[in-house]
Amino acid sequence: MIIALTGTPGTGKTTVCDVIRDHSRYKKQYCIIDINKIVLGEKLYTGKDEARDTYEADMDELKERVDLEIHKFPSSIDIILEGHLSHLLPVEAIIVLRAHPLAIRKRLGKRMNYSLAKVRENANAEALDVILVESVELNKNVFEINTTDKNLLSVVKSVISIIDGIKHGKIPEEFFPGKINWIEMVEMD
Ligand SMILES: Nc1ncnc2c1ncn2[C@@H]1O[C@H](COP(=O)(O)OP(=O)(O)OP(=O)(O)O)[C@@H](O)[C@H]1O
Ligand SMILES: [Mg+2]
Repeated sequence: MIIALTGTPGTGKTTVCDVIRDHSRYKKQYCIIDINKIVLGEKLYTGKDEARDTYEADMDELKERVDLEIHKFPSSIDIILEGHLSHLLPVEAIIVLRAHPLAIRKRLGKRMNYSLAKVRENANAEALDVILVESVELNKNVFEINTTDKNLLSVVKSVISIIDGIKHGKIPEEFFPGKINWIEMVEMD
């Protein structure tokens, strides 16, 4: 199965995948493809938005490149596409990591390369459910995990239980989208 692990920057996607990669059992069951690494490392972008300090990924090139990567693995292995663009790729299910906008501010505020405007833009995007909305428009199998005040291992276990549930026909209703509402956290200019 091919799963997207997406979410606003700062929701903890890479941190979760680092645990899976280091885990004695999970690392044999799951293959993780780092989408940002491919986009930046192979320059699969059409340009850079200097004002927002973000690259505009070339989604057609990226789709082709990820497809090549996926076919390197046996179909028996589950593939996790990790990154905030992963839900835009052809996948069978999407897991959206969420975090309270104030938690996003706190987590991204520690990044030396993030301006205040960039931190704020991401916190607002989270408050507006931007990635979740894009995901439900594209896929029927969308699940969300609120990582706010959750320890890392519990988030990892939730990711694994969603994938296991889907594979075994046990729909993980606990993670159906719609329970999170941070709209009041949107900051107007
Ligand atoms: N469950 C959690 N609770 C508290 N802090 C967390 C949690 N998960 C991750 N963090 C912290 O949040 C920060 C951002 O995490 P991470 O880099 O994994 O986010 P990301 O979703 O991969 O972001 P990006 O899309 O920019 O790559 C890190 O400092 C990490 O330690
Ligand atoms: Mg990351």
